[in-house]
Amino acid sequence: MNPEGDASPAAGDIALESRGVGHGFGAKAVLFDVNLKLRRGQFLSLVGPSGCGKSTFLRAIVGTHPPRAGELRLFSAESGDEGKVIDAPGRDRGIVYQQYSLFPFLTARENVAIGPMLDQTSLAFRCLRRLRWRQLRREQWRAAGDMLEKVKLADAMNLYPHEMSGGMRQRVALAQAMIMKPEIILLDEPFGALDEATREDLQYMLLSLYEENQKAVRQGNRPPYTLIIVTHELNEAIYVGDRLVGLSQFWDWRKEGHAAAPGATVVYDKPTPVFDTKTARNFERFTAQREEIRRVVFEPAPPCDRHQHVVYWREQTAR
Ligand SMILES: Nc1ncnc2c1ncn2[C@@H]1O[C@H](COP(=O)(O)OP(=O)(O)OP(=O)(O)O)[C@@H](O)[C@H]1O
Ligand SMILES: [Mg+2]
Repeated sequence: MNPEGDASPAAGDIALESRGVGHGFGAKAVLFDVNLKLRRGQFLSLVGPSGCGKSTFLRAIVGTHPPRAGELRLFSAESGDEGKVIDAPGRDRGIVYQQYSLFPFLTARENVAIGPMLDQTSLAFRCLRRLRWRQLRREQWRAAGDMLEKVKLADAMNLYPHEMSGGMRQRVALAQAMIMKPEIILLDEPFGALDEATREDLQYMLLSLYEENQKAVRQGNRPPYTLIIVTHELNEAIYVGDRLVGLSQFWDWRKEGHAAAPGATVVYDKPTPVFDTKTARNFERFTAQREEIRRVVFEPAPPCDRHQHVVYWREQTAR
């Protein structure tokens, strides 16, 4: 049995594994013994009280703040079954923040194309192999256009960030991440600054990416998108993901013999219902799960047994 209380999923199915990850700043403990196996093609929603360490966990996956304890492993076609320990940022992980991260002096299309342009060529290459550089640029330009069509911005390719709405900028930011074809995309409250209608459009867009995954799997192909989304909105968390993980500092650490709170850990890990783009949103259906998450993840007292609601893989194995 592993810490998630189950038989292990098949190695090739896993995109990311967090093994006993701990983190903190100075004497302040933030994360403790975070264990998680993320399936390739999964859309995992991550929730938890403000300040519990959700962004810290994403930054550890991005590689800018590697964990203080334990390890994070990323699995790709190249890395094989053992995966590769994350210890620095890399193009195999993309992140989208709440605050827009676009270059203000580039159009939508240029913003999306610039990542692969800088990634695939060096300055020397650009100077010395001009013809090949020009051909590559044409390919990247076309790919950026295709990506913007995918995020429904076909008509806005030539706009600058200041000419776009908040929702459009977040779509460009997502296209920017997706064009690099990362193994995993991290979204840190990506829709937090948007109004409700725009937010709904973007949730819908995530569902359409999930449907692309399902189609790829049906055809025997690798699902193209694996995603972790941090959100404060529980309805959104249940709606856009197929699995919900709750991080919380409110768990019964005294029972495990700690003298002081060791940090937030996974206290909730369950599947969520999968929705499609053809059915209207209906948050009434989420009520029971929403209440359970509120009680287990967000309420300080009484502290819960941290393993009781961590059953995702056990349920998958039992199916
Ligand atoms: N660079 C830093 N130096 C010191 N403390 C930090 C640093 N970054 C984060 N922290 C602290 O670590 C804890 C976790 O922060 P983090 O931003 O990961 O929380 P969060 O769950 O993302 O919160 P929110 O939901 O409000 O975004 C907080 O107490 C925060 O003050
Ligand atoms: Mg945060």
